[in-house]
Amino acid sequence: MVVDNEATITYVQLLKEDLVIFRMVPDEGPVPEYKAGQFITLGLSNPADGGKIVRRAYSIASHPENREYVELVVRWVRKPLPGRLTTQLFNAKEGDKIKWLKPTGLALLINDTLPNGEKDMRRIICIGGGTGIAPFVSFAQHLNAIGDKREIIVLHGSSYVDELSYKDLLTDLDHESVKRGRDEWDFKYRASISRPQEWFNRSWSGQVGRVETFLRPRDTGKSPLEELIGEKITKENSMFYICGWQGTIDGCMDFLTPRGFVTAHNKREDGSFEVKDESYG
Ligand SMILES: Cc1cc2nc3c(=O)[nH]c(=O)nc-3n(C[C@H](O)[C@H](O)[C@H](O)COP(=O)(O)OP(=O)(O)OC[C@H]3O[C@@H](n4cnc5c(N)ncnc54)[C@H](O)[C@@H]3O)c2cc1C
Ligand SMILES: NC(=O)c1ccc[n+]([C@@H]2O[C@H](COP(=O)([O-])OP(=O)(O)OC[C@H]3O[C@@H](n4cnc5c(N)ncnc54)[C@H](OP(=O)(O)O)[C@@H]3O)[C@@H](O)[C@H]2O)c1
Repeated sequence: MVVDNEATITYVQLLKEDLVIFRMVPDEGPVPEYKAGQFITLGLSNPADGGKIVRRAYSIASHPENREYVELVVRWVRKPLPGRLTTQLFNAKEGDKIKWLKPTGLALLINDTLPNGEKDMRRIICIGGGTGIAPFVSFAQHLNAIGDKREIIVLHGSSYVDELSYKDLLTDLDHESVKRGRDEWDFKYRASISRPQEWFNRSWSGQVGRVETFLRPRDTGKSPLEELIGEKITKENSMFYICGWQGTIDGCMDFLTPRGFVTAHNKREDGSFEVKDESYG
């Protein structure tokens, strides 16, 4: 039988009516141990279903070194019918209780070693669609906290500018890289807006289109990502992490597969791969 732990919701930041950042603290014991890229399972008893507990997975946006709280970014699922857990979560207030199961998930763990045992020093490229940015917010803060020297690129795609949920935090980490020097902390953050024609997005001057357009070669033959990095992306120099809709992952693989990249699900006989992904599916 599953035994749920209890926690208290300590912080609720409504970014818009259907997007929220919240923090929770266990009622007993410390914040659970987890690795960057893992998810936690939350549960609430559902009055509409005779009090049965509805449990769902949420990627952790905070980093393992943060022992104060667990932070999550959640979309309220409204269509075709209101989502069972998210509708309840969006009614929760600071001080309310929530059930949780310990963090888990192997799909998006940061790769540190190559199959030959050498240290993996390839550039880390994270591509997050919508709330799929969460695991990479954890990655960025974790890699910063441990002083990782690899080059890290975080790309976020959303429909609207106010859905760039971690713009401030990731921009600060980007600026820190400029200030400290790239030999100390090598981090870049860029975003793309997929509905640039809409009035609400009129102030946007950055990349447009879904996030995978960062990989699409321009007339120059180079993609916006390659222009940002200043060199050609190859499977020898880059490792990709992708989280979002399956369409986002497929859209990225349309560019990466012809260049010889393979996913961890389809790794080669020698155990090598260059893409890890987790879909909403
Ligand atoms: C590894 C992992 C990590 C995740 N991380 C995040 C995250 O960081 N942030 C985040 O927001 N989400 C995340 N999710 C998604 C999350 O787990 C839930 O799936 C999501 O929040 C919806 O849950 P819900 O109970 O509100 O919706 P559900 O009730 O499960 O509904 C799911 C879908 O079914 C429809 N539906 C509901 N009831 C019915 C019905 N009776 N008949 C027909 N259709 C119905 C809904 O409209 C919706 O489209 C993650 C999922 C996974 C697998
Ligand atoms: N690890 C996980 O499994 C995980 C993590 C986080 C969230 N989720 C779940 O994912 C669902 C929606 O996430 P969201 O609200 O964050 O996404 P969203 O805001 O609806 O979309 C984010 C971006 O993805 C694009 N997009 C939408 N549908 C797409 C498709 N089929 N293929 C490619 N790109 C697509 C959007 O482009 P347009 O503007 O063109 O629509 C937008 O740019 C929620 O139910 C959430 O609970 C799962």
